Amino acid sequence: MEKRVVSGNILEDDKSDKSLRPKRLKDYVGQDSIKDNLSIAIKASKKRKEPLDHVLLYGPPGLGKTTLANILANEMEVRIKTTSGPAIERSGDMVAILTQLQSGDILFIDEIHRLSRVVEEVLYSAMEDFFVSWVMDKGLKARNMKLSLKPFTIIGATTRYGMVTGPLRDRFGLISRLNYYNLDDMSTVVQRSASILKINGDPKGFNEIAKRSRGTPRVANRLLKRVSDYSLVLDDNSINQKIAQESLRKLEIDDLGLDSVDYMILKAIIEKFSGGPVGLDTLSASISEEAETIEEVYEPYLLQLGFLDRTSRGRMVTKRAYEHLGIKFPQKKGLNQATLFD
Ligand SMILES: Nc1ncnc2c1ncn2[C@@H]1O[C@H](COP(=O)(O)OP(=O)(O)OP(=O)(O)O)[C@@H](O)[C@H]1O
Ligand SMILES: [Mg+2]
Repeated sequence: MEKRVVSGNILEDDKSDKSLRPKRLKDYVGQDSIKDNLSIAIKASKKRKEPLDHVLLYGPPGLGKTTLANILANEMEVRIKTTSGPAIERSGDMVAILTQLQSGDILFIDEIHRLSRVVEEVLYSAMEDFFVSWVMDKGLKARNMKLSLKPFTIIGATTRYGMVTGPLRDRFGLISRLNYYNLDDMSTVVQRSASILKINGDPKGFNEIAKRSRGTPRVANRLLKRVSDYSLVLDDNSINQKIAQESLRKLEIDDLGLDSVDYMILKAIIEKFSGGPVGLDTLSASISEEAETIEEVYEPYLLQLGFLDRTSRGRMVTKRAYEHLGIKFPQKKGLNQATLFD
């Protein structure tokens, strides 16, 4: 189980976060273009008296996909049933879930990229024409079964858009990518959570937390609680800039939200591979971390910061990252005759 304080993935101490989840679109901070599109889709489907189009939400962990799915159910005033890709093992399980849906219901499928192919195939006709068909029994007794469904909405969420198959993707009317939040939005998230949790502090203190939360609301909420603990222990019970800085330093999170794992990755590329390019698998072997974890968990924020570059020949550490680490950027060979005919 991952333990990084700055991880976008859900950790044990995030479980009490329910009260922090915005319930309405107007309380959902940032992601303005997604909110605009969804709000139009909601209004249109209400006017047509039809269920909302199927929605696919993708983006890094902790940015608010599950939150948004629940908001859509609230705004549409419909029921939402939640499941996930790995939880549905057989096509019969999917049929059972779909046939129980009432008109207008939302079925939220988290980690939709992890549905097995046979289960996914049940969804094709269900999403397109609201019926399911499957084969019952085997051999001579085999029969084709077909059942019609009430019109419903699927909301799929994934951190791995590339792993959602083409046919499944094509059946979503709305596909939205959630982006890391900017600093203003992160400050709003922190202030909003602080007021719900009745945590005292001043704008500079909250801003310091926002700055170091990697553009990820889940991380912001977690850091806010840690810093609040620290301020309580200091007997001050109010978060100012100094307290925020001190406690985040104790948690080994730097002023951009980088932690020791980020440093290890950047330094490995700099020290062992002269700054890159280095292939993902080679990097993975050198720091004993799975390639998939590097790609899914560690890398996105470093790419977002412009500290890593993904080239066809592998990962490269950028000049910006060297500067942030206080390491001299090596003067690489210019584009001279020798390199041109290399
Ligand atoms: N736009 C937002 N405004 C305010 N708070 C938010 C917003 N988005 C997310 N949050 C907060 O961040 C927490 C994490 O969000 P959520 O669980 O929806 O992320 P997710 O994208 O579903 O993550 P995962 O990929 O791990 O499933 C929520 O509990 C909520 O409190
Ligand atoms: Mg989620």
